[in-house]
Amino acid sequence: MENYKIIFQDIYKSFGDKAVLQGLNLSIRRGETLVILGRSGCGKSVSLKILLGLLYPDRGKVYLDGEEITGMSEKKLVEVRKKIGMLFQGSALFDSLTVGENVAFALAEHSNRTADEIAEIVDNNLKFVEMEGTVNLMPSELSGGMKKRVALARAMAYQPEILLYDEPTTGLDPITATTINALIRKTQREYGVTSIVVTHELDSGFSVADRAAVMESGRILEIGTIAEIKGSTNEFVRTFIAGAK
Ligand SMILES: Nc1ncnc2c1ncn2[C@@H]1O[C@H](COP(=O)(O)OP(=O)(O)OP(=O)(O)O)[C@@H](O)[C@H]1O
Ligand SMILES: [Mg+2]
Repeated sequence: MENYKIIFQDIYKSFGDKAVLQGLNLSIRRGETLVILGRSGCGKSVSLKILLGLLYPDRGKVYLDGEEITGMSEKKLVEVRKKIGMLFQGSALFDSLTVGENVAFALAEHSNRTADEIAEIVDNNLKFVEMEGTVNLMPSELSGGMKKRVALARAMAYQPEILLYDEPTTGLDPITATTINALIRKTQREYGVTSIVVTHELDSGFSVADRAAVMESGRILEIGTIAEIKGSTNEFVRTFIAGAK
């Protein structure tokens, strides 16, 4: 268990009579980047939201650093969430705030740092994602790739131990997608974070991850190295890989 940063243990989640997660078991090693691949609607985003404590499972447990987080009080969850940075599907920047204000948002709300300290973190993070000089721009002035970079700078605000990326390259052209994937790698390398990347884009997923898991109908069908997934004998996994090409 010590080798694992995050463990999803037998998670079930339904919305009304729609069963979404149906026995999700998944363990993420400390410091690795794991990609979850799966079709639209298979439960990828719901899994991340359960890890963040934004949704509550009907059954099952989630462990972070060996500590069960399911069932924690909201007050304790606030502390747990500080360990986790999330890049939401579609970036989810606040349109009425500048780039700098977006990156500073959580810091300004939930920490006792001074304005100067916050400004320094914002500058450093924007530099890290190669977006220096954009602090006063509005999100509407940015391309999709630039928005993703700002969203990453914001997700890193608390220097999280864990980064969750929900469809980080979906909707981007291949060249921009490659630069975002390189940034995900750089974040892992330079900060030693544990990352989960969720995507239905196979090549992107394979290019950023140390290991991959294939999800279908709220369960993991196969998990392993990229080579193992590519060589899987599971019929669904084979069809998914062939179909995504
Ligand atoms: N808050 C909610 N209320 C009701 N149903 C929900 C809710 N959140 C998700 N669902 C349903 O759960 C299923 C899985 O959703 P989820 O967002 O996890 O899919 P996904 O794998 O991330 O798909 P995509 O690749 O399209 O983002 C979908 O059928 C969705 O409609
Ligand atoms: Mg999703």
